[in-house]
Formats: sequence, structure tokens, C-alpha cells
Amino acid sequence: MDDIEDEISYIKGMHARNAHDPSAVCFATTVVGLEGLAAQEIESRLEGEVRRQLPGIVIFRVPELSRAMLRLRLVEDVFLLAWGSDSLTYRAVDLKQFAHWTAKEVPWPKLLQAHHQVHAKPKGKPTYHLVCQMHGKHAYRRLDALKALKRGMEGKFPSSWLPRDEDAAVEVWLIIHGKQALCGLRLSDKHMRHRTYKEAHRPASLRPVVAAAMVHLAQLHPVEIMLDPLCGAGTILAERLLMGRRSPVIGGDADRSALYAAYTNLRILIDEPMLVHWNATEMPLGKHAIPCLVTNLPFGRQIGDPNEIAAFYGELIEEFDRVLQPQGRAVILVDDPEALARAAWAHSWQQRDRVQIRLLGHPCYIMVWQKN
Ligand SMILES: C[S@@+](CC[C@H](N)C(=O)[O-])C[C@H]1O[C@@H](n2cnc3c(N)ncnc32)[C@H](O)[C@@H]1O
Repeated sequence: MDDIEDEISYIKGMHARNAHDPSAVCFATTVVGLEGLAAQEIESRLEGEVRRQLPGIVIFRVPELSRAMLRLRLVEDVFLLAWGSDSLTYRAVDLKQFAHWTAKEVPWPKLLQAHHQVHAKPKGKPTYHLVCQMHGKHAYRRLDALKALKRGMEGKFPSSWLPRDEDAAVEVWLIIHGKQALCGLRLSDKHMRHRTYKEAHRPASLRPVVAAAMVHLAQLHPVEIMLDPLCGAGTILAERLLMGRRSPVIGGDADRSALYAAYTNLRILIDEPMLVHWNATEMPLGKHAIPCLVTNLPFGRQIGDPNEIAAFYGELIEEFDRVLQPQGRAVILVDDPEALARAAWAHSWQQRDRVQIRLLGHPCYIMVWQKN
């Protein structure tokens, strides 16, 4: 991988070349493993030029800033890039660099102007918030890095601006991941990551961006029925509806409180969500009734015993095979891909795609299957 610093020099050159150039360099964050899909979405929906992909991050340039970038589904946050580095030392000397780069290397008035193109200029006394996220083993703490960012930002906003922790008009983020750091002005708000439908939460509920990636990989036609047989709080069904409110979706779960959560969430999107209380190994659906199912199975590490999970996956795939049409597709998220593959191969399913992601620090797999 080339240095991010090369990228930053390119961006600085761009700023310097033409003050009226409407293009902007941004970065988006997503779940680690989804960068490739997020990059494709940025290219196709924003006509963005993807410059670099890092774990959980896509750096890109757009010809013009617009609110369309807030409607991306496969990213969790979008930022205007202020500075970046991929040569942190992990030692305290990094802190001096953070303050220096923030203070000296960024045309903040220009970035604020660009921010106002996406968000109306705040009325009354503007508020700001400085945020630092840090992953990896560094000799300094996250709070030290945040203090360095604060030092660098001194005098960058007018003195009348007030610091505020919640719902600030302007947020500057410093994201540190191992030897990489990116600093930017946040364009998105909490709704991009959490969506507006997520009213009811469940402990094993999926991150919406992962559900959106799974629906994307299912390549559904607008009126094709999509089934989630173990729907939990309904995140996958909701992401399908966000792509087309009239798309037919069916969900089911063995737990009534999960179905109630799904109902609460889906009612925000449609009038009468079709949700059924069932055991997914014996669904009241006809043979070959469903063209596509997308689901997130209980993880092996939640169940514990590997033999138990293999037997459960075996029963589920047998039932999925019964309800799926010939050539029907199944997009399934698991943490034990071998157990799922054994069950799928027993029915001669073909694996079409597999994307490895990281959730809560563990590897998980979105597997795309086609029935014979
Ligand atoms: C990992 S969660 C699904 C999370 C969901 N994608 C979401 O975002 O909320 C798995 C779900 O499977 C359900 N479940 C477990 N065994 C089941 C079975 N035999 N039949 C139907 N649902 C089952 C659980 O109640 C749980 O809601």
C-alpha cells in the first residue's frame, strides 16, 4: 500500500491549484471488510473517484459536494479529509505531529465553507465537538490524542463558538488505527449509521451497514420477495424496504419479543409488515415459494457447542432448500463458514461469493449461495 501522505500532498496541491474547484476529498468509514463494496457504491452513486482503501475506510474524491453522499447505504460516516498519515510511530512523538498537522496543514476556513454546502450554516451561536477514536496499542491514551487535537484546533473556530458534546453543528474527528490516522470534518450525523427506523434494539441486532451490504449482495429485482427467516429486530428487512418501499418482504422469528421489535422498526417504513412467529426449521411456507432469503444466523460462539451448531445449520439449510425456488439465492451471515458450507454442500448449493468482515473484533462471513 502506498503512503497516505502521497494522497495528502495530492489533496493539498488540489486545494492550492484552484480556489473555485468544487471537487472535494472525503473519507468514509464502514465495517472492516466492507470497504470494497462501499467503494463501488461511492463510484456508482456519487461518481466519486476512489483514491485509497484502508481497513474500514475509503478515501475518495467527488466532483462536487452534495447531500446525496448522506444517502449512501454501505458507509457509516462521511468526512471531509483534513489530514492523514500512515506512518505513526505509536510513541508520544505522534501527539506533537497530530497538533502540528491540525494547526498547520489544513485550510480550515475552506473546509468549513465546504461543510456549509452540505449543512446549512448554523443559526445562533454555532457549536463544535472534537472526537477521537483510537484502536491499537499506542504508548499514549485516546485522551492524550484528543488533547493534541484540541491544541491543534486552538484559534481555528471563532471564539464565539461553544463546545458541545451532543448534536454539535460541527464535529472534527481524529481516527487512529494502528499506524494510520485520519482527521476530518464530519458531514454525516448519527442517522447515517443508526438509520431513522432503529427504534427498538436487540442485543444481537445487526449493524445496518452490514444488513445493507447483504441485501446488496442478494441482487434482488424490485418486486422479488425477500425472506428473513430469523429476522430478530428486522434490520435486514428494513434495509430491503429502504431500497424500495414496495418490495415484498417476509420475516419470522421464534422469539415473540424479537418480532415485536421488528414490528416497531418496520412500522416506521410500511403499514403492515408481514411478520410470523415460527421455528425457522419448519416454516408454514410452500415448497419453492421464495426466490431469495437473506439472514443472519445465531453465531456458533453464542451457542457454544460446535456439534450443536452444525446440527442446527443442517436442519435450517434443509428447510431453506425446501422453500427456495430452483436457482434461488441465499445470503447468510455466519461466524462458522465451514459448518454452513457442509450443510449447504449436502444439498448441492453453489457458493457464489464470500465477504469476510469483522464484527465486535471477530471475523464473520457473508456467504452468497445459489440452490441447484
Ligand atoms: C443473530 S439474531 C438476528 C438478528 C437480526 N438480523 C437483527 O438485526 O436484529 C438471530 C435470531 O434468530 C432467532 N432464532 C434462533 N433460533 C430460531 C429458530 N429456530 N427459528 C426462528 N428464529 C430463531 C433468535 O430469536 C434471534 O432473533
